[in-house]
Amino acid sequence: LTVTTTAGASVSRVLDDIAGIGRGSDGGYRRPVFSTAERDLRGWFVAEAERRGLDVETDRNGIIWAWWGRPMDGALVTGSHLDSVPGGGAFDGPLGVVAALVAIDRMRERGVVPSRSLAVVVFPEEEGSRFGIACLGSRLLTGLLAPDAARRLLDRDGNTLADVFAGSGIDPRHLGPDPAALARIGQFVELHVEQGRGLVDLDAPIAVGSSILGHGRWKLTVTGQGNHAGTTLMHDRADPVVAAAAIVGVVAETALAFDDARATVGRFEPHPGGTNVIASRVDLWVDARHEDDAVTAALIDGIATAAGRLAGRHGCTVEVVRESWSPTVGLDPALGRAVAALVPGAPVLRSGAGHDAGILAASVPSTMLFVRNPSGISHSPEEFVERADADVSADVLADVLGGLL
Ligand code: GLV
Ligand code: MN
Ligand code: MN
Repeated sequence: LTVTTTAGASVSRVLDDIAGIGRGSDGGYRRPVFSTAERDLRGWFVAEAERRGLDVETDRNGIIWAWWGRPMDGALVTGSHLDSVPGGGAFDGPLGVVAALVAIDRMRERGVVPSRSLAVVVFPEEEGSRFGIACLGSRLLTGLLAPDAARRLLDRDGNTLADVFAGSGIDPRHLGPDPAALARIGQFVELHVEQGRGLVDLDAPIAVGSSILGHGRWKLTVTGQGNHAGTTLMHDRADPVVAAAAIVGVVAETALAFDDARATVGRFEPHPGGTNVIASRVDLWVDARHEDDAVTAALIDGIATAAGRLAGRHGCTVEVVRESWSPTVGLDPALGRAVAALVPGAPVLRSGAGHDAGILAASVPSTMLFVRNPSGISHSPEEFVERADADVSADVLADVLGGLL
């Protein structure tokens, strides 16, 4: 794949260069980690970084580091991710990566002489859309995800993470906590498209992040009796689709009972999946979030209890397994104040979406910048950033990074 970028390009023009990669006929992006699309983007990033004279290395967890200056402990680090959810927007992840590269151009144009090194990082599998665990790269880096468990993870086609990483040149035997890499992050600043309406309502282009909402994923397996659609009388069935459909209703009802809780079923898979087949099993996934982690736990308890009752009513059983969990985290207050001082007038926003910055925050001072999204929509092709705001985001990031360097 050859993507050429004009020297001195703006964020909007660089995003144009990669706009065709992994875009489906519905306008949504499918860039799962180490798919052809995401690998093309990783290759594009390496070429863009090298064209800028940055030294690029890929660490044991598949995180790409592009260094302005020599690799060192306590460096200033920025960046985001290039993978997407199924049917995602153009900006979730790539905006922060592109803005980081262009911010380096801007700092050079301004004659910034850094007193320490700066790295742009690209985290693999931030979305967890291929292997089910959100922020997988930063979890491996920080030791929050055990390498044995990671290696065994399966994608939808039954490929293990170990095989997929190996196929992309990452030796799965070396996955795992990387204190030396972590020590290189003195401070982390992730720029990201805002995934809600906060900045639209405030009529401001850029915000500083203050916290990231706790989020978790639970897999529910509803098991019944596979059978024939024509010969099995309605009263003789143990149909897990009927049970699972009732469970989906109760997920939304239970979340509504807790103030400001969010619970979503975005993936629902009857097996084996035939029009004239009563399914034998349904797998469905609940994404649940609340500021108070105890409320999220209570919400999931409520869903699990109701799911057991509903499954029993339809002659089925249900198993609930937590696949991933991130508590609500406050981003670093001191770093947030330093960044806010470099972006005068920027509002402060909490994030309802998860980010690698939230995982890193437990280990190193981390903060975020959010860029206005006029649609207020994300994880959808309607996610949007005006060209002027995308371009300004690199100037603002250059102000912030230049000020912190
Ligand atoms: C990622 O955007 C998430 O919040 O799931
Ligand atoms: Mn996302
Ligand atoms: Mn993201």
